[in-house]
Amino acid sequence: QPSNPQMEESSVLRRADCRAKGGSPGFKVAILGAAGGIGQPLAMLMKMNPLVSVLHLYDVVNSPGVTADLSHMDTGAVVRGFLGQPQLESALTGMDLVIIPAGVPRKPGMTRDDLFNINAGIVKTLCEGVAKSCPNAIVNLISNPVNSTVPIAAEVFKKAGTYDPKRLLGVTTLDVVRANTFVAEVLGLDPREVNVPVVGGHAGVTILPLLSQVKPPCSFTPEETDYLTNRIQNGGTEVVEAKAGAGSATLSMAYAAVKFADACLRGLRGDAGIVECAFVASQVTELPFFATKVRLGRTGAEEVFQLGPLNEYERAGLEKAKKELAGSIQKGIAFINK
Ligand code: NAI
Repeated sequence: QPSNPQMEESSVLRRADCRAKGGSPGFKVAILGAAGGIGQPLAMLMKMNPLVSVLHLYDVVNSPGVTADLSHMDTGAVVRGFLGQPQLESALTGMDLVIIPAGVPRKPGMTRDDLFNINAGIVKTLCEGVAKSCPNAIVNLISNPVNSTVPIAAEVFKKAGTYDPKRLLGVTTLDVVRANTFVAEVLGLDPREVNVPVVGGHAGVTILPLLSQVKPPCSFTPEETDYLTNRIQNGGTEVVEAKAGAGSATLSMAYAAVKFADACLRGLRGDAGIVECAFVASQVTELPFFATKVRLGRTGAEEVFQLGPLNEYERAGLEKAKKELAGSIQKGIAFINK
């Protein structure tokens, strides 16, 4: 907790007043799981984001330390810490955006689905908190398996009567970030100039990079296509193995999460043409959830884009992806309705 809550409150009010006079808008953002491997660098990057006026850091351990540490940074956002379930409601009340990286990560040899038993319950509890305390917030769900945790969150919100599919987004940005990096390497380009749509879901074969739609337009040999598709699909495992038991991607994930959260905030602010890939409720395929490009606006994912033209390699990949995704989605829905 801040050392002087009164002084902190007056500082928040002063800044709100400044915004009302035409200063930049500020959004209230909560991170649930803020003391973790992803949570800490994510919290730091959000503390540096000029669109954030208030940053709430919630965890079941260590959030006071992380909060004290970040609160000394001379950036605009006011940081407040919340520890343990009894403080979940205060952490969430009034939030515009809730980012959820809470839960256990993979160890070598594990699939994302192996995390289901622990993380499903964590996501359920946290989403019940969101439904109660900030039902209109945009939710960015990072906890794995994303292919199941997003359907879990949707069921929790439906039960609470607060579900708006536009506001629930599974974060698949790291797949796009990896795809941009690996494709740029092959093409000999700066990764900042490359944009690769990645659709489907966020695990193994459900991660489907659309290499035929890369910008700038380019072409790949069959060998390059195979190499890139496999590397993008197994990028997470590459990090899990290199960390050898110490967890999964945290720093690149925090970077990706902030890239996505920033896009959501710019959408909320009303910026035009904000498009990112995300795992959302969808009618693009016969599955109830699917990752594609979406347009982010004042009310969340306001438009879900179609897949666009696929080549034969991608059509075969899509069939495999859909098969696995169907099971993961069903598993999530069944967890809440068992
Ligand atoms: P970590 O174990 O370092 O941190 C997780 C944090 O969650 C810990 O601080 C823990 O205390 C907290 N936590 C546990 N139960 C909680 C609860 N009930 N309420 C609030 N906080 C709780 O794990 P790491 O590396 O930060 O990964 C977090 C999750 O993100 C994992 O499920 C991982 O698989 C997933 N992930 C997702 C990616 C994606 O692209 N969507 C990429 C990388 C990881």
